[in-house]
Amino acid sequence: MTFLFNSDAKRGAIFAEAFSRELPDVPFVTDAAAVDPDAVRYLITWTVPEDLSRYRNLEILFSIGAGVDQFRIEAVPPHVKVVRMVEDGIIRMMQEYVTLAVLALHRNLPAYLDHQRSQHWQAIYQVQASERRICVLGLGMLGTAVLERLRPFGFSLSGWSRSAHELEGVRCLHGADGLDNLLADTDILICLIPLTDETRGFLDAALFAKLPTGAALVHVGRGPQLDHQALLDALDSGHLSGAVIDVTDPEPLPADHAIWRHSKVLLTPHIASVTQPETAARAVIENIRRHRSGLEPVGLVDRGRGY
Ligand code: NDP
Ligand code: OXD
Repeated sequence: MTFLFNSDAKRGAIFAEAFSRELPDVPFVTDAAAVDPDAVRYLITWTVPEDLSRYRNLEILFSIGAGVDQFRIEAVPPHVKVVRMVEDGIIRMMQEYVTLAVLALHRNLPAYLDHQRSQHWQAIYQVQASERRICVLGLGMLGTAVLERLRPFGFSLSGWSRSAHELEGVRCLHGADGLDNLLADTDILICLIPLTDETRGFLDAALFAKLPTGAALVHVGRGPQLDHQALLDALDSGHLSGAVIDVTDPEPLPADHAIWRHSKVLLTPHIASVTQPETAARAVIENIRRHRSGLEPVGLVDRGRGY
């Protein structure tokens, strides 16, 4: 019942130490070439290896990240459980990043950076937090954690999801009608929904048009959800006032892409949240224990929904 680790060596060493301490009866291997494929019961990876079918006794395919869109789930045999990463480090880092992004947009940081470059000393009228309407697309592990972290600033908070949710102090709506209602009342839109067939290209010109003039975007979902040209058009026309973008398609963008140099965009290289190996190893070990005692792993992906 071997565990095969297919990721970077630094994180591998931390996982190996945790496995030897907590699950000594599960051999931990980092070299796929050195393992008997029939012995592999658990595999953790970012992308699905081309030769996945050689692991005929695989029981759980773990994603090293929170998302699983990089897996071609249809290529994973149906009896294999696909499990995404649910661990405190990812949640905490996403809370930090989105708070940073929301405060940067709320306090007009892109405009002030522009002013600094042109040695222009001028205050911009400051909207107060209670007047700033923040909407989070996606009320899952990360969306709800982000809303919780934003709450003490006193922003007006709303959230959107596929199914109905209730969160204290947050106006929660769902479905297409719910989205239209929320967009009209949103100043800063945060995208934290998974990439699926339904959400590919979701942040497009039609969606931006439903936001009030001067609204801003924080995109921390997945690059293919964003129509990059539509974003540039909305920024250039003045309809959107700014954007903080952590994910693009492709990653990185080509060197001549306008997003790199756009004065209203703060761009980061897909670092909003990074799996932390100590807490991730604990989460994976706990999931193996659950699986062995007949319980569903935490973060089990619903293949029908794709997340
Ligand atoms: P969850 O699966 O916990 O939550 C997903 C949420 O999105 C749910 O509330 C779900 O609704 C909602 N949703 C899914 N599809 C739709 C849809 N078609 N319409 C409306 N709502 C929808 O995911 P996480 O919160 O853990 O992660 C979200 C995403 O964040 C990941 O998939 C990944 O792409 C991205 N991510 C980015 C990182 C970065 O560094 N930039 C790091 C980690 C993750 P419902 O509740 O009704 O099911
Ligand atoms: C993830 C990511 O999905 O880093 O965890 O994007």
